[in-house]
Amino acid sequence: MNIIVVGSGIAGLTAALHASETGHAVTLVTKEALGGGCTALAQGGVAGVYGPGDSPGSHADDTLIAGAGVSDAAAVDVLVQDGSARIAELIARGVAFDRDADGVLLLGREAAHTHARVVHAGGDATGAAISHALVQHARSAEIEIIESALLVDLLTDDGAVHGVRMLRDDALVDIHTDAVILATGGAGRLYAHTTNPAEATGDGIAAAIRAGAAVADLEFVQFHPTVLGAGTPFLISEAVRGEGAALVDDEGRRFVFDVHPDGELAPRDVVARAVARQAALQGSAVRLDATMIGAARLAERFPTIDRVTRERGFDWAREPVPVTPAAHYLMGGVVTDLDGRTSVPGLFAAGEVARTGVHGANRLASNSLLEAAVFGARAAAAVTSSGLRSRILPVSAVLSGGIRDLNVVGFSRSHLQHLMWDEVGLLRTRDGLTEALDTIRSWRAAAPHPTTSAEYEDANLLLVAEATASAALARPESIGAHHLDHEPALIGA
Ligand code: SIN
Repeated sequence: MNIIVVGSGIAGLTAALHASETGHAVTLVTKEALGGGCTALAQGGVAGVYGPGDSPGSHADDTLIAGAGVSDAAAVDVLVQDGSARIAELIARGVAFDRDADGVLLLGREAAHTHARVVHAGGDATGAAISHALVQHARSAEIEIIESALLVDLLTDDGAVHGVRMLRDDALVDIHTDAVILATGGAGRLYAHTTNPAEATGDGIAAAIRAGAAVADLEFVQFHPTVLGAGTPFLISEAVRGEGAALVDDEGRRFVFDVHPDGELAPRDVVARAVARQAALQGSAVRLDATMIGAARLAERFPTIDRVTRERGFDWAREPVPVTPAAHYLMGGVVTDLDGRTSVPGLFAAGEVARTGVHGANRLASNSLLEAAVFGARAAAAVTSSGLRSRILPVSAVLSGGIRDLNVVGFSRSHLQHLMWDEVGLLRTRDGLTEALDTIRSWRAAAPHPTTSAEYEDANLLLVAEATASAALARPESIGAHHLDHEPALIGA
């Protein structure tokens, strides 16, 4: 069978390797260089059940509680049951998770986990270690790799997906195939402040919507509470709070305890809103105080954060550092079953682009790399056992697009990102959502047919923005990351 995987984070690489290792012809299409995207930036780690007294059932309970009652219990069960096999596979592929002197896996603690449960590598460089190992395997496997190719659309015929159209070197190229696994990640670039890299423009979600696939839970956008409030957004891992760091107001008071008994380790949506509200109240960024952890431990456990904070002029071992929330993860996406099947025959999805039902209204920390590995592997297994008829066709260049500037009155990517941040962000109002939706619709109506990669990305961002604002308006109650506030959104990063 001929399979195209789009995306080269942990979900895409896992799916591609599994499909290839079972003897299928795999083409891996990726927007940037192999291994780009969010995976390589992940700091915290992978949630795994290894600690004393821990169990898959406890991990499932924590996931369901963080998900605020919106998660799919069957998907959560698959996650926690398959999880240890996928972590073992990562280890077998060469990911050197951190261990103590006796070789026992070291476990970090993150918010809303009842046990220390997060395996990590290189201290706070888990994603980079995973990406590096999987990329090496993909390069030595019999996988055709196409880099620097933007997914433009899914090719459909008789209601089924049978290929992809991509933009490469300014030319549109079609590749026909038996099945497509989308692993294109999320859409953090919808927002003015995000931890996501430039390529996170919702291309897979937008293409799936255009192909008629069902999407759900797009209103659930997770904002990370602690991004360094100086310079380009840089994540300060929740694992730092797991080691004891405190969030303090301008008088040094731990304000998160005002809203939740677990304080800084309350579910992420609670902490992010508390940070945003406190910053608005005091008119300046709140601070993360990690001084009690000590310089040596900070440097050993969080070498990347230690280096970057110091490069930006902060000595976090001696003084609290300013932090602010930023868009981090999309819980919703393309609806899949437990094996990555979408509502469109021939189309599968895994990773952040997918809505498996695991995360509900608020993802539990460090469940995303795990979910991507678990459902990437399951999607590959489902595709290769699907009995889809092989119809291998040649790659054909079908069109060549000229380059021109997008020039739509009123629209710019930055305007969209600020609109989403202000009105479809952490704190929402119905009036703000309505206004945002009207504006996004008018920008979409006026947008020209895209020809450049920036224009295709803008079109994708606009489509996903419209779907997100619509989904938010359609949910009248506050739940998890979707929070309707009586006051206008107050925050700014
Ligand atoms: C973090 O390290 O705080 C992020 C982990 C995650 O998003 O799961």
